[in-house]
Amino acid sequence: MAIETTLLLCKPDAVSRGLVGEIIARLERRGYLIAAMKLVQLSGDKAREHYAEHKDRPFFGDLVSFITSAPLVALAVEGENAIDGCRQLIGATNPLTAAPGTIRADLAQTIGRNLVHGSDSKASAERELKIFFTEGEFVSRKHDLERWIKE
Ligand code: RTP
Ligand code: MG
Repeated sequence: MAIETTLLLCKPDAVSRGLVGEIIARLERRGYLIAAMKLVQLSGDKAREHYAEHKDRPFFGDLVSFITSAPLVALAVEGENAIDGCRQLIGATNPLTAAPGTIRADLAQTIGRNLVHGSDSKASAERELKIFFTEGEFVSRKHDLERWIKE
């Protein structure tokens, strides 16, 4: 078993469109469990730290101003191979090329307002979770999970 914790963000568009419940419902239906959750409006510094890998890209300024523009909901999500599994549930970056049935294909229209962030690797998950949560804010759901999943 490879139970992982990943960072998901319901970005400001998800919060303002009232889609947080829908997004969490999709995670929960897959069997993933929430180990930490908070509504927060990001500072510029935290946004730049979170998206540091994109700092030289032409869209970086827009990305930072959007992600800091209004509150988002940050979630630490636990599950078997949760990092790749959540990325699969979220879908490709551009909603137009995301597979039907994914959050971005079903609920979003454009790459700049694609509703959700999901960590893309173990190293990213570890790094990003620390930006949003302190150690004491996690409540591991491993015990619950192990009752519902089996190789
Ligand atoms: P995310 O980090 O938000 O989960 O998205 P992702 O891995 O699918 O995509 P990534 O390449 O990490 O890009 C981060 C966010 O930047 C915006 N973006 N805009 N205009 C563009 O060409 C462009 N490319 C990326 C998207 O909002 C994307 O989610
Ligand atoms: Mg990314």
